Amino acid sequence: MSPELVVESDAELSPGRTAVTEANSPNAVLSPGHNAVIEVNDLKKVYGDVKAVDGVSFHVKKGEVFAFLGPNGAGKTTTVEMVEMIRTPTAGSILVFGKPLDSNKSEVRERIGVLPQEFKSFDRLTVRETLVYYQKLYDGALWAVDEIISLLHLKEKEKTLYTNLSGGLKQRVGVGISLVNDPDIVFLDEPTTGLDPRARRDVWKVIRLLRDRGKTVFLTTHYMEEAEQLADRICIIHQGKIIARGTLEELLAKYGKRRVLTIAGGDQGRIVHLAESMRLKAKIEDGKVSIPLPNNDFVTDILSKLKTEGIMYREVDIRRSNLEEVFLTLTGEKLGGEEDEV
Ligand SMILES: Nc1ncnc2c1ncn2[C@@H]1O[C@H](COP(=O)(O)OP(=O)(O)OP(=O)(O)O)[C@@H](O)[C@H]1O
Ligand SMILES: [Mg+2]
Repeated sequence: MSPELVVESDAELSPGRTAVTEANSPNAVLSPGHNAVIEVNDLKKVYGDVKAVDGVSFHVKKGEVFAFLGPNGAGKTTTVEMVEMIRTPTAGSILVFGKPLDSNKSEVRERIGVLPQEFKSFDRLTVRETLVYYQKLYDGALWAVDEIISLLHLKEKEKTLYTNLSGGLKQRVGVGISLVNDPDIVFLDEPTTGLDPRARRDVWKVIRLLRDRGKTVFLTTHYMEEAEQLADRICIIHQGKIIARGTLEELLAKYGKRRVLTIAGGDQGRIVHLAESMRLKAKIEDGKVSIPLPNNDFVTDILSKLKTEGIMYREVDIRRSNLEEVFLTLTGEKLGGEEDEV
């Protein structure tokens, strides 16, 4: 496996470090800066022969949606449940709200909300009863159940039994449960797995609302599109190790292929000539002119030059890079199967 290169541009650099470092060693992570609410260093969890989590280091900033992206069995749930204090690490350190977890357990319990993977609730409670039940488990500052119901658009269903809700509505109730203590950090472990595209988008809306409310969202997912759509920053985990991290743009720039403009029809020789006059490399492939683009500005330039020079064409298409391609570049494997496409 190739070593990870850290590409975060927004992290503060420790003295003597450069912006590109080898990762997965304890000293390799760029300083998280003062606004990190979670800092994980060289975290490990071993089950017999299985290194479920094999020395991961990352930080999560206050108010961001942080996506922890990886395929089945990568170590996502194991990692997140160590941060949630559900599992005990084999080694490594975890700081939440700036303090080591060991010294901070009750504060963390009060200030985090959790939607576990494959969440289920009581079949015979209504939506409202469910939220009230979970809220009673907490003291202190609470988020009014009425407000959670309206935030999640569950008003019409508040008297419906949990067992009679659709999968998407059940997940929304699960998100609602994670909010009853008005947490600062919300952990959502695969919140949209098994949902149809519409229900998935409803959950995405809720995640955006949470970010608008200033919450930090730790989103665990194996859907690359979910990370692309929602995340401020992304960590990709594979076989217990973090293999890349950064904003979507940083990851695409570093590991994705460049965008390619294709032009079909028309006088292809003249189109190639025009692209070359703009210092772009162009070639004819499958009956289309294919032009790799250094950046998007070239699209409008090329199209306006085609127009002024009276060069005709039938259609244009831009193929953009995505996280699937990033994952393939890094691991040689596909992240998700066809059924994962939304
Ligand atoms: N309690 C356990 N005992 C033994 N092995 C475990 C245990 N929990 C997890 N593992 C193993 O650790 C590895 C990581 O599992 P984990 O559940 O963290 O992956 P994940 O990334 O959350 O996957 P998924 O997308 O399927 O939820 C897997 O090989 C899994 O079988
Ligand atoms: Mg999991």
